[in-house]
Amino acid sequence: MPRIALLPGDGVGPEVTAAAVAVLRAVGARFGCSFEFTEWPIGGAALRAGERPLPAATRAACQRADAVLLGAVGDPAFDGEEPARRPEKALLELRQVLGTYANLRPARAWPGLEDAGPLKASALAATDMLIVRELTGGLYYGEPRGYADDGASAFNTMRYSRAEIERIAEVAFVAAARRRRRVVSVDKANVLETSRLWRTVVTEVAARHPDVHLQHQYVDACAMKIALAPASFDVILTENLFGDILSDEAGAVCGSLGLLPSASLGTGAGLFEPVHGSAPDIAGLDKANPIGAIGSAAMLLRHGLGFGPEAEAVERAIEDALMSGCRTADIAHPDEEILSCSRMTRAIVERVQAG
Ligand code: IPM
Ligand code: MN
Repeated sequence: MPRIALLPGDGVGPEVTAAAVAVLRAVGARFGCSFEFTEWPIGGAALRAGERPLPAATRAACQRADAVLLGAVGDPAFDGEEPARRPEKALLELRQVLGTYANLRPARAWPGLEDAGPLKASALAATDMLIVRELTGGLYYGEPRGYADDGASAFNTMRYSRAEIERIAEVAFVAAARRRRRVVSVDKANVLETSRLWRTVVTEVAARHPDVHLQHQYVDACAMKIALAPASFDVILTENLFGDILSDEAGAVCGSLGLLPSASLGTGAGLFEPVHGSAPDIAGLDKANPIGAIGSAAMLLRHGLGFGPEAEAVERAIEDALMSGCRTADIAHPDEEILSCSRMTRAIVERVQAG
C-alpha cells in the first residue's frame, strides 16, 4: 500500500490538504486501491508546537514515505525571526533532504476559464506551458550567506555546478520530447557568470536531444513574454529563483495562482504541493481554491506512484467541474456563484466517483 506523508502546514494548507485527501480517497474507492496516510507537523504549525520548522520525526516520515503531499508553509507570526526559525526553512530543508532538484509547474489556459485572468481570452487561448525549475541550488542554498558589518550589509551566493545544471536540463528536454518539443532556457547571461555556465551546459544537453528545439531567453524578456504571449511557450527551463518568480506570474496569467499544482522530483520520494502559499488572510474561512492541491495529488499519482489512469481521472474531474461553472472566489466573475473550498472539493470528488 503506497505510504503518503501529509504535511498540512500553515494557513490554508490544512484545508487544501484535506481536499486533496478526499479526492485521493475517492480515487482509491473507484480504482480499488488504497493509500496509507500519516500526518506530520511542519512550518509554523511545528514552531507553534515548540518544535523546529522541520521536526526530526516529520523529516524521517518523509524519507520513509513513497510520496509527500504538502499544503503550505508560511506564518506572519514568525516574520521577524531569523531564517533558520522561519516556517519556510522547513520546506527548503525538506527539498534538500529529499533531493528534489526538479520542480515541475504546469500552467495552462483551463477549459472554461479562458477569461478568468488579466488577459484577453484570445491571448491566453491554447496556453500550455511547463515550468521546469531547478529546486535545490542557486541563491536559495549558496554559501556563504549571512549578515556582515553588524547587520549593515547582507549577502547571498548564487552558485551552480555543471552537474546541477546538466541534470535539470535533462529533465526539461525529456519532458519537452513528450510535449511540443520546444525548450526556452531562461537566464541572465548578459550579467551573471552562473547564467553563462547555465547557457553553455544547457546547449550541450540540447545536442543530445536533436529533436527538441532550444531557445535562450533573458529572464526579464521572458517575464514580459509570459504576460504578453503565454501561448508561445512549451517548456521553460530555469534556475531556482527565476523559476519561483516566473511560476507565480504564469499562475496569475492563467487565471489564479490557486490553480497551479507542482511536483518536486529527485533522488528519493517526490514532494507534491500547490504553488500558492499559506494565504493567511483567508485561512480557516473555507474560501481557498483547492484545485492547486488537488492537481498536485494528481501529479503525485502520476509521478510519485506511477498511477497514470488514476491521475487522468482526477484531472478530468477538475476540468469537468470548471467547465460546469464551479468557481471559488479567486476565479469567479462578479455575477457567478462562489463555491467554498469544501463545495468545490465535493464537486470534484463526485466527478471522480462518477468516472
Ligand atoms: C514556492 C514558495 C517557496 C519558494 C517558499 C515558501 C520557500 O514560494 O514553492 O514557490 O520560494 O520556493
Ligand atoms: Mn513561490
